[in-house]
This record gives sequence, structure tokens and C-alpha cells, in this order.
Amino acid sequence: GSPLAGASWKDDGKEMPVPKVPDIGSQLAENTVSITVVGASGDLAKKKIFPALFALYYEDYLPQHFTVFGYARSKLTDEELRHTISTTLTCRVDKRENCSDKMEQFLRRCFYHSGQYGSEVDFCELDNKFKEKEDGKLANRLFYLSIPPNIFVDVVRGASRSASSPNGWTRFIVEKPFGRDSESSSELTRCLKMYLIEEQIFRIDHYLGKELVENLSVLRFANLVFEPLWSRNYIRNVQLIFSEDFGTEGRGGYFDHYGIIRDIMQNHLLQILALFAMETPVSLDGEDIRNEKVKVLRSMRVLKLDDVVVGQYKGHTKGGKSFPAYTDDPTVPKGSLTPTFAAASLFIDNARWDGVPFLMKAGKALHRRGAEIRVQFRHVPGNLYKRKFGTDLDKATNELVILVQPNEAIYLKINNKVPGLSMRLDSSNLNLLYSERYPREIPDAYERLLLDAIEGERRLFIRSDELDAAWAIFSPLLRELEEKKVVPELYPYGSRGPVGAHYLAAKYNVRWG
Ligand code: NDP
Ligand code: BG6
Repeated sequence: GSPLAGASWKDDGKEMPVPKVPDIGSQLAENTVSITVVGASGDLAKKKIFPALFALYYEDYLPQHFTVFGYARSKLTDEELRHTISTTLTCRVDKRENCSDKMEQFLRRCFYHSGQYGSEVDFCELDNKFKEKEDGKLANRLFYLSIPPNIFVDVVRGASRSASSPNGWTRFIVEKPFGRDSESSSELTRCLKMYLIEEQIFRIDHYLGKELVENLSVLRFANLVFEPLWSRNYIRNVQLIFSEDFGTEGRGGYFDHYGIIRDIMQNHLLQILALFAMETPVSLDGEDIRNEKVKVLRSMRVLKLDDVVVGQYKGHTKGGKSFPAYTDDPTVPKGSLTPTFAAASLFIDNARWDGVPFLMKAGKALHRRGAEIRVQFRHVPGNLYKRKFGTDLDKATNELVILVQPNEAIYLKINNKVPGLSMRLDSSNLNLLYSERYPREIPDAYERLLLDAIEGERRLFIRSDELDAAWAIFSPLLRELEEKKVVPELYPYGSRGPVGAHYLAAKYNVRWG
């Protein structure tokens, strides 16, 4: 299924029709899918999963016969679940046709089952409810584990034993965190594989479902102009930057156990890096892509303490408003050393990337919200313009910027002549601004990923060997940070983060973009 079905794009102001792809709903008419959101009473379910399911329904991407179940311990009725869901569903774009009718129809297909996470009896009861709705048709079952990781295995045990499909597929989407380090992650995988085979496990990293992250491969492999430049020969450094302009707000308890390196770098930013740096896959098949990602991850140098800077936000007052310190969060232990900011320099020891620093920066409570990839190119050799006109192109090297969010865009900084009779050079942008070029809204990452899981497309999910390779890069560093009780550099809430990050980049003669 393609989110472009029936859509159109603008070409020089003209609307171009996009070939309508067959609607998977009709293809799967004789199949049923029961989608169970385990942890339905929680934050992620409300904020992301139910709205994404509704959006898929609205766009006709869900199979014709589908049912959504919420499962959690809280005692709710079907009506109460529907009411909770309805408060978070939006039609995303105002004034869309029949949105409230569609919402009603969707909610009528949502049911709730209250149960304990480790109880096979409770999952048996859920199984009976599935059967009622499946009505003898081919039954496919998808479980979304939107729960804390300490109960992942209990749920998988109960659901796989008592609520697996008798004749179709049974799949589990597993939310992060997948462990805290190499050992705990391997242990989690070992336990999951006592009940499931790898093909049933869909480890989600929602950054892989973001439009511009998915577009990375298109940009590289469908454009002749980029791929030849994609190596140490032309690229001086690559920056992967994540920043949020709010603190841990409400998630301090979870966050303190993990910290920013595990929360953002080891998964979201590293996944982007792997897609950015991998070799050309044999095909676009999920296994071929994941093979290449594993290869590049396994070529990466293990991080050491010298390669990172860690920070933690402190309270700050600005314009009469005061912003709390991380440790002011009542769910965070006093004196916590958990980093809320980190910058790191990573290297890939292979022929393509030898010596090119990949600089990562991730932080909460910074001055702005955004996620971006910056590719800084080497300077133009020869410096023709400096010799004649004194224009130093070392300071204005080309840069390709991919703004993942917000205001999705891809732009290339080029040097250009300022129009006029004198020869003055100016750094300017060739800009692909998504909101102008593609006025149609961009689907949320969870929509893409839920649809892929239903369709059995594994390309954007993390395979276990990929996960092992990702943890191998970070685990020794994480252990050392904790054993040595490294004190994070404090930075004010709403600032640009600790100055240490600038010194780290300066070691490689790089300035953050
Ligand atoms: P919640 O803390 O809201 O937990 C979800 C549900 O799990 C709760 O409603 C509760 O349901 C049950 N639960 C919570 N704690 C326990 C416990 N100790 N023992 C048994 N059951 C418990 O989590 P989120 O919804 O925030 O997140 C779900 C998963 O998604 C987590 O793994 C999280 O790391 C991950 N995630 C969350 C994101 C977010 O933005 N929230 C973003 C990315 C990933 P009940 O009591 O009714 O059984
Ligand atoms: C989650 C992290 O995985 O991603 C959160 O646990 C973070 O701490 C979130 O806020 C950011 O996602 P997005 O899509 O809002 O950038």
C-alpha cells in the first residue's frame, strides 16, 4: 500500500495524477485483522497508536474486516475506551469530508478487554472475543506492546500461547526500549524467541517511519548527483541532531533509568546514520536493506568516554517565567547524574567512510525542537575565487541539509554570484520545502509503521542482529559513564546545551550547523 494512493502531486503548478494503487482493503476482503493495543490505557496508545489507526481507517488502508481491541489492567468498558480514544482522534486536516461519521464508524469497531499482563486465562478470554469478530474468516492478529519493557515477555508468553491465530499470522510490535545494554537486550531477545520466531517480532523505531528518513534512500539511490559524492572523498563530516524544547515532563521515571543516549542516540539517530551510510542494498527487500544496515553498524568504532560530552538541564528563569531543572521532576531521584543531553563523535572504519566524523547531538530542554541531518562537504580545491577576488570558499563549503522535522525540507547550500557588475559570491540555498511542494499532509510515522506491520513489510523494523550491533557501539561507554559516575555539564533549560559539545566538534575542525 502506498500513502500516495489516489493522491496527486504538483508539478510546476499543475496537478499531476498519481496512478491509483489497488486498495488493500479489497484485496484482503476474506481476511480479518484483530489489532490489540496492549497498554491501551497508557500515554502512547492515546497519543499515537489509536490516532494512527484511525488515520489508516480514514484513508481506507485498513483491511475491510478489522477490529481494534484495547487491553490493559484498568477496568474500562468498551464505551469508556471509545470515549477516551475519541478525545484524541483528529481529522488532522480541518473540514475533511465525513470525518465525524468515519470517526463514529471507527469507534464502533473498537473494544476493550481488561486483563492482567501475565494471565493466560485473560488472554484466552480475549481469544474468544477475537473469534466472535473473526466469524470463521482467516484470522490475522497483531499485538502492539505499548507497555513498560518489564512486562513485554509476560504478554508475549500469554498472548502467543492463548491468543495466537489458528490459521493466519500473529505478529507483535515491540516498543522501545529493547534493553539497557548488550546483555539485557540479548536477554530480552532470547526470552521473546522462546515464544516467537524473528519474523513475528516487529521492533519499532518510529524515526524509521518519518517521511524524510524514509526518503533518505530515495535521495541517495534514485539521484545520480548524490551517490558519487557520498563518501570520504567529498564529505567532510555528517551531523545528526535531535533537540526538544521541553524537558522530561511526566516521563522522568522512565527517562532516569535510560538517559538521552539510550532514549535517542542508540536508536533514532543511529538508525538514521545506518540508512545514511550503508552500501547500496541488493534490492529494496527488507532483508537486503537490513543486511546492509547491519554491515555498516558492525563497521563502526566502539564509543569511548573521550568521544562524548554529556549534559543535564538546570532550572532557568526567562522573561519572568521559570523553567525547572531535570532534578526538580518529582519522579527523578535527587542528585541524578542521568544525561539529558549528549554529543558524540562516531566513526565508520570502512573504505567509504574512513576518517569522516559522524557527529551526533541529542538533548531535551534546548532552545528549539527539531531533528536534522547535515552533510558538510569538503572545500572546493584550487580556491580559484579566493586568488582572484579574495572570497574564501573554505568558509562557505557546500552543505546538504535534511530537516526531518518540523518544517520538513531538503536544501543544498551552494555558492552563487550575487547579481550585478561586481563579482561577489553569496551562499544560497536550493530548497525543497515540503509544505510548498507537497501541500498534502505528511502521515504520522506510526501510520506508516502500523500499515507495514499489517502488510508484513519488515524494512522499517529492527532485526535482532541490527540491535546487537547497535548496542555493541554504545554499551561499553554507557557502563563507563555509570561506573565512573561521570557528572554531566549543566546547561540552562532553553539554551543551546553545554559548551562541551562545541569543543568536541572543534577537535575535528567542525562547527555544528
Ligand atoms: P505508560 O507508562 O503510560 O504505560 C502503558 C500502560 O501500561 C499503562 O496505562 C498501564 O496500564 C500499564 N503499566 C504501566 N506501568 C506498569 C507496570 N509497572 N506494570 C504493569 N503495567 C503497567 O507507557 P507509555 O504509554 O508512555 O509507553 C508505552 C511504551 O512505549 C513504553 O515501552 C515506552 O517506553 C514506549 N514509548 C513511549 C513513548 C511516549 O511518548 N509515551 C514514545 C516512545 C516509546 P494498566 O495499569 O491499565 O494496566
Ligand atoms: C521517543 C523518546 O522515542 O521519541 C522521547 O522516548 C522523545 O523521549 C520522542 O520525546 C521524540 O519523538 P518525536 O517523534 O516527537 O520526535
